[in-house]
Amino acid sequence: MSLPRKVVIVGQGYVGLPLAMRAVEVGYQVVGFDKDRYRVERLAAASSYVEDVTSAQLSSALASGRYLPTTEPAQMSSFEVALITVPTPLREGGPDLTFVEEAGRALAEHLKAGALVVLESTSYPGTTEELLSDLLTKGCGLRAGEDFHLGYSPERIDPGNAHFRLEEIPKVVSGVSAASLAAVQAFYDTMVHKTIAVSRPREAELAKLIENTFRHVNIALVNELAMFAADAGIDVWEALDAAATKPFGFMRFNPGPGVGGHCLPIDPSYLAWHMRTSVGRTFRFVELANDVNDHMPDYVVGRANLALNRRQLALNGSRVLLLGLAYKRNTSDMRESPSLRVAQRLVSLGAQVAYVDDHVAAPEEDGFEVRLRRAALTEQEVSVADLVVVLTDHDDVDYEMVATHAKCVLDTRHRCRGETVEYL
Ligand SMILES: NC(=O)c1ccc[n+]([C@@H]2O[C@H](COP(=O)([O-])OP(=O)(O)OC[C@H]3O[C@@H](n4cnc5c(N)ncnc54)[C@H](O)[C@@H]3O)[C@@H](O)[C@H]2O)c1
Repeated sequence: MSLPRKVVIVGQGYVGLPLAMRAVEVGYQVVGFDKDRYRVERLAAASSYVEDVTSAQLSSALASGRYLPTTEPAQMSSFEVALITVPTPLREGGPDLTFVEEAGRALAEHLKAGALVVLESTSYPGTTEELLSDLLTKGCGLRAGEDFHLGYSPERIDPGNAHFRLEEIPKVVSGVSAASLAAVQAFYDTMVHKTIAVSRPREAELAKLIENTFRHVNIALVNELAMFAADAGIDVWEALDAAATKPFGFMRFNPGPGVGGHCLPIDPSYLAWHMRTSVGRTFRFVELANDVNDHMPDYVVGRANLALNRRQLALNGSRVLLLGLAYKRNTSDMRESPSLRVAQRLVSLGAQVAYVDDHVAAPEEDGFEVRLRRAALTEQEVSVADLVVVLTDHDDVDYEMVATHAKCVLDTRHRCRGETVEYL
């Protein structure tokens, strides 16, 4: 197939920006449309805010003349392909599709016969075939699946994971008609090495929710086990190492201080909401997993309290150094980070809290209400703390130095080794 010339990507965040870079790389003329003026200014100045895209990559995309970051809707005119990669958060426990609706309305104004629109944002089954299809059809007067093509292809990138590049991750594709599926697949065949066609968008939407619910539930399982094992005096990490030697029928997940980011705390609730509203059933696994994972930051604070108590110290007035505020290793993403909840709780209990995380911006810049002292990872900083808590397992931390110089470490990620270290 000859490459269509113009691809619009609505939303230039963790998902949209890497996609835009890949589309430029394979030869498209790409418009990166985002309503956030600050982000677009940074993109135009070749200053990346997403770890998986380097500023050098951005710079060469701009220099190619085939990447235009913009807040200007008129730049979307005459698009041949449009991808929607905007947030799908929760509002009062249910899906908030405001951003998808806004993006759809903006695209409808420029939608011409023969063009292709693909939703990549995570959402409940039916979003593409019902909500988005209706909205586009109303907005442009053309029929989805006949006059223009429409499909869903869930994004699967794993920010901070250098092992799987976007083009190496197989992509599930779907369309609202056979012709739409063919158009969606033909497009993604130019973007990634392997596409997997499913019969309808709702199966593709469910596939994405299954993937994230699977992780959420399994993380909750090991978190509950970790709490039980700590009380029973059993080393859950060693038990997991042993279980993971089974060559089939087992997939390892690790305990941690809770789940964060845009996916795990949110996506399973889209599925539970859909199940409740479409067939009137409660998704008990998701409720239980939410319950366990939501409790983890409080559990970590409880363990911090016990660790200090053993040394005849109270949390109130103690110096606590947190290692890692991002929810995920080697990323700057603090959305829904359990580390922030741990920090907030420690501060409210009177601890003097400092943090080390070279990946993140100051949390107050992200709207976090509690002010925390930012520290550098030095022997001095580690040794004066009454307690060091490892919350994010970034690779740029010298865990050996931490274990050597800290009076006491509560390691929720199993990265430190030594006499003074205790694990979740
Ligand atoms: N972050 C991940 O690892 C990941 C992985 C797979 C899927 N997803 C899903 O992809 C979607 C996007 O997530 P993200 O992490 O990239 O979000 P993000 O917040 O990093 O980026 C979204 C961008 O969309 C912009 N935006 C919002 N409404 C807009 C509109 N109407 N017009 C133009 N721009 C608009 C925002 O300004 C923001 O820059 C979500 O549904 C998410 O669940 C995320």
